[in-house]
Amino acid sequence: MIEIIEKAKMQHALTKQEIIALLEVPAIDEELAAAADAVRQKYVGDEVHLRGLIEFSNVCGRTCRYCGLRGANKNLKRYRMEPETILDLARKAAGYGYKTLVLQSGEDAYYTAPKMEHIIREIKKLDLALTLSIGEKTTEEYRAYKRAGADRYLLRIETTNSELYKNMHPGMSLENRLRCLNDLKLLGYEVGTGCLVGLPGQTLAMLADDILFFKAIDADMIGIGPFIPNQDTPLAGEAGGTFELARRVMAIIRLVLPDINIPATTAMETLNKNGRIIGLQSGANVVMPNVTEGEYRKLYALYPGKICMNDTPAHCRRCITGKIQGIGRQIASSQGNRKKFAKE
Ligand code: SAM
Ligand code: SF4
Ligand code: FES
Repeated sequence: MIEIIEKAKMQHALTKQEIIALLEVPAIDEELAAAADAVRQKYVGDEVHLRGLIEFSNVCGRTCRYCGLRGANKNLKRYRMEPETILDLARKAAGYGYKTLVLQSGEDAYYTAPKMEHIIREIKKLDLALTLSIGEKTTEEYRAYKRAGADRYLLRIETTNSELYKNMHPGMSLENRLRCLNDLKLLGYEVGTGCLVGLPGQTLAMLADDILFFKAIDADMIGIGPFIPNQDTPLAGEAGGTFELARRVMAIIRLVLPDINIPATTAMETLNKNGRIIGLQSGANVVMPNVTEGEYRKLYALYPGKICMNDTPAHCRRCITGKIQGIGRQIASSQGNRKKFAKE
């Protein structure tokens, strides 16, 4: 097993069987994490990039079976921010020193392409890198956002297994998800994707396929989250993913895609109170602190136990800075593009 890790550390390539072997053996977790940490340091350095996350609407027309924002969930009070409110939060985020903003929401038809373009143009005046995470759109819409100035797009594939994908996403298809990711690549976005770990019926072989898919499309950013069951969804009674397996998946991704951006995700910290720091020491180099304010934070309820629910953006900025400095790493002062996109 140690030879497989050593090989991946040097060659950044693994077979499906090797990935499965690494995923199923908890005994080598520390060796795997140490190898991922070394590759992270060699290729992307010790700096940690912070992305300020604005959750601007929890209205969603989809019904992904794992997600608390699914349109069919009637137990959630819905909100959407007006463009001016979003811009106000964006200005504050710039004031806190964030160099990248992530605008995330459910798939909310209220935000038409012209509305999004206006928001994007105004945010770009703040000299920030801008990531969108607003779901599946048409090619034309993706083109319009890019023209308006959006730099990056986050759209997790969630799972590359078409049966499981269909099961988890009523009325959606893996084909359209792939079309979206392909469009985003061709349009010149830095493309972020990723998967959920621990979906009901998911096997280690499927996770190995996910990892090989990320490598095949040469994704620029990969976010991995354990699936956390939400009581207001059809998957309420499921077991959910574990922190340990999500960490293993993340570490393997760093070994095979050495120069990409990998966030230590909020969902990882939900399952382990030191989850983001452990993530940063197991291959990750990005954290996405929340800059959403007030009641909205609580209403963006994807899964229970989400961290920072009662905290302010200013508090989170200080908190995460302290934690990162506490492990001898620094907050980056650049926008943190993947190196091949670097304009800095
Ligand atoms: N609507 C957009 C989309 O689906 O791409 C962006 C927002 S969506 C809430 C962001 C991510 O939340 C999804 O890609 C999914 O992986 C994650 N998510 C949703 N429900 C979750 C759950 N119960 N546990 C962990 N992650 C979850
Ligand atoms: Fe909507 Fe995204 Fe949640 Fe699916 S994962 S229900 S698209 S917010
Ligand atoms: Fe929000 Fe620590 S990052 S309280």
